[in-house]
Amino acid sequence: MVEKTQFVLSEAAKSKIDSWLAKYPPEQKRSAVIPALHIAQDENQGWLSDEAMEAVADYLGLPKMAVFEVATFYSMYNLKPIGKHQISVCTNVSCMLKGSDKIAEHFKNKLGISFNETTSDGNATLKEVECLAACAGAPACMIDKTYYENLTPEKIDELLRGLSST
Ligand code: FES
Repeated sequence: MVEKTQFVLSEAAKSKIDSWLAKYPPEQKRSAVIPALHIAQDENQGWLSDEAMEAVADYLGLPKMAVFEVATFYSMYNLKPIGKHQISVCTNVSCMLKGSDKIAEHFKNKLGISFNETTSDGNATLKEVECLAACAGAPACMIDKTYYENLTPEKIDELLRGLSST
């Protein structure tokens, strides 16, 4: 069970959400749910607590369910706390054809965790995700907000060495 947390959208976050709202007709506030959730997630150490989702719903003037159903549908949102770094491994078709199963296994073995788990030192969370739109560089992953393509076990070792020092 996830603990209750306090969450308040900062003025900077509200201003970013406002800039998204300005792109849509006033009656289409639902169109801003996806970017607003990203903004809230970034403000909440990379995950969306119930309180963060409620804050987005309140700010947009939408029913909480309208926000919760978006947050729970997309794999890009985290519904529980994550590690310092998030490693998102694509296992969709192009990556699968280029060996993403071996890439995923290598990440799991090296980190000692499965998908949706966080290392005991809190440094990394491993996630399985749908297409990252980097198919030409398959197999691909994203670490935090950076893409890495044409992954090999050696490249992963190098990436993980870099992560453990940050
Ligand atoms: S299928 Fe992996 S990036 Fe598109």
